Amino acid sequence: MGNESSTLVDENTRPSVLEARTVDAVAKYIKEKHVRRIVVMVGAGISTSAGIPDFRSPETGIYSNLVHLDLPDPEAVFNINFFRQNPKPFYALARELAPGQYRPTIAHSFVKLLHDKGLLLKHFTQNIDCLERLAGVPGEHIVEAHGSFASQRCIDCKSEYPDEPMKHAIAKGEVPFCSVCRGLVKPDIVFFGETLPESFFHNRTLPEEADLCIVMGTSLSVQPFASLPSFCKDGTPRVLINRERVGGMGSRPDDVLILGDCDDGVRKFARALGWEEELERLWEEANPNKKAREEELAPPATREERLEEEIDRLTAEVDRTLEISDAYQKRVRRKLDGPSPESNRVSGLAHVFPHLAQK
Ligand code: OAD
Ligand code: ZN
Repeated sequence: MGNESSTLVDENTRPSVLEARTVDAVAKYIKEKHVRRIVVMVGAGISTSAGIPDFRSPETGIYSNLVHLDLPDPEAVFNINFFRQNPKPFYALARELAPGQYRPTIAHSFVKLLHDKGLLLKHFTQNIDCLERLAGVPGEHIVEAHGSFASQRCIDCKSEYPDEPMKHAIAKGEVPFCSVCRGLVKPDIVFFGETLPESFFHNRTLPEEADLCIVMGTSLSVQPFASLPSFCKDGTPRVLINRERVGGMGSRPDDVLILGDCDDGVRKFARALGWEEELERLWEEANPNKKAREEELAPPATREERLEEEIDRLTAEVDRTLEISDAYQKRVRRKLDGPSPESNRVSGLAHVFPHLAQK
C-alpha cells in the first residue's frame, strides 16, 4: 500500500483502457463505457481559490508561513501532543479555518455535478472546510477522512461538548474546557497522532470497485489517505488535476495528468463532457452572493494577493498567541523554577509519530 512507483509512465506505452492519455479520451470513456462509479479524492488545493490557504505550497501554504514562528515544527499546530501543551496556536488558526466564511469553488461544484449525474461512488476529502457539503454533495457520499468541525469533544474523558459554546470559543479564538473533567476540548478533526474516523476505514477499499478515479488539489503526502489512489485496479483510469504531479499519479498507462489550476482543470473536463454550462449554473447556485462571485472571478493576481493577506493574518494571529503563552509560561517558570518552556517544546516534538505518518 502506498508503495506505487512514482516514475512517469513511458510515453510510448499505450494506455490499456483509454484511447489516449487526454481529457478528451477520459470524457469519451465516461460517455461510451457507461461509467457509473467515480471516486474523487481531494485536498486543500480545491479550496485555495475560495481564499483558504493550503498547507504545503511554498509561498502561500500554512506550514511554510509558520516556519519562522516559535513552534517546534509547523505541523505542531495540528499535533495532538503539542496541542496538550499549548492549544492556543490551533485556536488562533481555527477561527480562520472554521466553516462559515468561505464559498465553494467550481471544483466543489464539479463533484456535485458528478453526483447529480449519478456517477459519484464516493468523495474522499482531507479538507475540514465542509465546502463540498455547501456545494450540495450529500453527506452520505462524502468521507471526511481528516474529520470536520461538525462536532467536538474533550481529549481526555471524550465527553461531547455542545455546539454553541464551541462556536463562541472558535469565534473568539478562546480555548474551551470540558465541563466534566476540565480537559481540553478539540473539534473532531484528525490531528497528527490520532486515528482517522471509522468511515475512512469502512470505505477505503471502495476505489477497487471504481471505474474512474479523480484526484484533485492534494500533495498526497499524508498517509493513509495518500494510498487511496493505489487501491484502484490496474487499468482503471485515474485523472490528476493539480498544480504539480504528486504521489504515483502518472505512473500507470491509464493515468491522465491535467496540471494547473483545479478550477481551470474541472472547466476543461466539463467542456470535454459537454457539461460546461451545467457546471457554471451549479456553481452560480452555490454562490448566490454576487459580491463573493465577483471576488472569485477576480483575476488570479488579485486572488493571490487575497490569499497572501489571509496567510499574513493567520501567521500574525498564531505568532501573537505564542508570545502570549511564552510570557505566561515564563511567569509560571519563574514561580515554580521548573524546566524551561523551550525544553518542553522540544520534548513535544519527539512525539510527532502519528498514524498519519509523513511519507
Ligand atoms: P497540501 O498543501 O499538502 O497540498 C495541496 C496541493 O494542491 C499541492 O500539491 C498544491 O500544489 C496543490 N494546489 C494548491 N492550490 C491549487 C489550485 N488552486 N489548483 C491546483 N492545485 C493546487 O494539502 P493536502 O494534500 O490537503 O492534515 O494536505 C494533506 C493534509 O496535510 C491535510 O489534510 C492536513 C495537513 O497536515 C491534517 O491537518 C490532519
Ligand atoms: Zn473531559
